[in-house]
Amino acid sequence: MAPAYQDETQGRRSHRLRAGDVELHVVQRGRGMPIVLVHGFPLDQSMWDAQIAALGERWHVIAPDLRGFGASQVTSGTTTMEQMADDLAALLDALGIGEPVVVVGLSMGGYVAFQFWRKHAGRLRALVLCDTRAVADTPEAARARHDLALQVCREGTQPVASAMLPKLLGAEAPQRDPEAVESLRRSMLGNPPEGLAAALRGMAAREDFSADLSRISVPTLVIVGHDDAISTVDEMRGIAQAIRGSEFVVIPRSGHVTPVENPVAFNEAIEQFLTRVERGGPTV
Ligand code: MLT
Repeated sequence: MAPAYQDETQGRRSHRLRAGDVELHVVQRGRGMPIVLVHGFPLDQSMWDAQIAALGERWHVIAPDLRGFGASQVTSGTTTMEQMADDLAALLDALGIGEPVVVVGLSMGGYVAFQFWRKHAGRLRALVLCDTRAVADTPEAARARHDLALQVCREGTQPVASAMLPKLLGAEAPQRDPEAVESLRRSMLGNPPEGLAAALRGMAAREDFSADLSRISVPTLVIVGHDDAISTVDEMRGIAQAIRGSEFVVIPRSGHVTPVENPVAFNEAIEQFLTRVERGGPTV
């Protein structure tokens, strides 16, 4: 299906197209090595604004709204991380991208990246795991997600924004960059409640990935914010240690949403890694 272009600013191409059984909204910029940016919960592709701008100067950046988020189609029930990974593969097909891609996933986007590795390994050139977790939810955490899903369906997105915003950001974020904080809040409030609920159920159902980490053999960069309260530096260091040959970077002055909270340090780390991946040499 030919993509329907809606706007084109600063070289960004924004459109909505059919990918498998769903219509996804995607923003693209640039040419060359394809890099797929997978957003976290309860956000959308706009969290990657600074990376679309910087990485899109050198590479082909592809930033979709996942199923149920942003301007993409909402499907009800449970959206599993595997379904989202399959959606990414279908999106690449729809865009005519056959060559292996770099997948960059933040938090929930990292859960999706793990599934992409598992199911679509032949399409993966390298991985960037940002502020994410390999473990599954505890039964208590899964129950809390189901409760929140019910509440969101009843009351709208405000409960998710109130529960998540303080956890996502480092303590200094509201003073340092109030506009970025407001932009995250707008994304959270603007997301469709049914889509958020479906993703909450999907995250609650996700499997423990810890035992698979040692089998990842693509070049991998592991990034974490120094003050991340959800996926801590120690936990992310453990992920990096389990993935042979991976690179580990701690981003200063940042909580959980490193690409937004410290885009300069984040972009520097990822650009250096991507340059090495493109050259095909060792990444560390
Ligand atoms: C995210 O940022 O995507 C969420 O913190 C993931 C989660 O709730 O496990």
